[in-house]
Amino acid sequence: MSDEILSLIYTFSRKFNDPNTNLAFEPKNKNISAVFKNGNVNVALSVSSKNDEPYKDISRLLRKNIEQIPGVLSVNIIITSNTKIKNDFEKKFQIDAKNIIAIASGKGGVGKSTFAVNLSVALQSLGMRVGLLDADIYGPSIPRMIGFGKKPEMNSDKKLIPIENYNLKCMSIGFILEDDAPTIWRGPMVMKALEQMFNGVDWGKLDYLIIDLPPGTGDAQLTLAQSSKLSGSIIVSTPQDVALADARKGINMFKKVNVDILGIVENMSYFICDNCNEQHFIFSKDGAKKEAEKFKVPFLGNIPIDKRLREQSDEGIPACIDNPDGEISKQFITIAKELNQRL
Ligand SMILES: Nc1ncnc2c1ncn2[C@@H]1O[C@H](COP(=O)(O)OP(=O)(O)O)[C@@H](O)[C@H]1O
Ligand SMILES: [Mg+2]
Repeated sequence: MSDEILSLIYTFSRKFNDPNTNLAFEPKNKNISAVFKNGNVNVALSVSSKNDEPYKDISRLLRKNIEQIPGVLSVNIIITSNTKIKNDFEKKFQIDAKNIIAIASGKGGVGKSTFAVNLSVALQSLGMRVGLLDADIYGPSIPRMIGFGKKPEMNSDKKLIPIENYNLKCMSIGFILEDDAPTIWRGPMVMKALEQMFNGVDWGKLDYLIIDLPPGTGDAQLTLAQSSKLSGSIIVSTPQDVALADARKGINMFKKVNVDILGIVENMSYFICDNCNEQHFIFSKDGAKKEAEKFKVPFLGNIPIDKRLREQSDEGIPACIDNPDGEISKQFITIAKELNQRL
């Protein structure tokens, strides 16, 4: 029944041509999609032009027709401009950076931002010009971690000037939004905000752009990953099974869109007790390392759970700045050196 109804829907829709591309709205046209479930019809028309007026007429006529189909209880037609933003985004991905590295994780709270900040500082300490882009639109934490909350200013080309601290050029939605403003954004708005962070920012010439991605494998991650300019990605995970299961999804996403996986970092690997000075494997042992072997991707190292590292993040003084000779900072620097050699 649902197939019959769908085919009736397309019988109506193929009578209309997309005003922009002149192609009929038939099933093979990517700019229309129709779903029928429990008597409800959802149709999405992707608009590839700024002028959506002609689409509104089509939408009205289409609705009238679909409503007549026996068995249809409700009709919902949306006009989206997703495609346009996505296409523009990919086209306009214009940053003058020799290497662009995305830092990803399946789960939130595993230390992705901590790693992104310290890797950036470590690369900078090797003499590189580094930009740090906080693409975690929903939970931007770079402003706090680099100890900066000032709003960025605009240059004469109406581009935002990145906030500079510790010789890093940083941009984050967190610089622009109020501290505790809820970020309830829809897909196209997220894309628009991300696009702004690339092209609306005066990044200048960079050796590295480090992107702190939002956790997971949603639309934003995919769009960013698909941009062919990524030199590669780094996956951060704790050794725990639930984190690894999600990290795996991240690895598969990057593989699917042919983005090189530069390596896996295991964070919160163990805790050294002040009293007994022994390593305690709180989130299990070597999980991320084994995962790297399984997927045949480089294992970049493991970072212990460290109270000072957490404090440094909260205070806005990255470990690699606060105590560059410390054990953990040395690990970040080793990883930076290895990457720098490979790229
Ligand atoms: N190795 C670590 N030892 C102690 N605290 C850590 C460590 N890594 C991260 N943290 C802390 O855990 C919290 C989550 O880390 P964060 O980098 O924000 O994760 P994500 O970006 O993946 O959500 C932060 O408060 C951070 O300071
Ligand atoms: Mg984060």
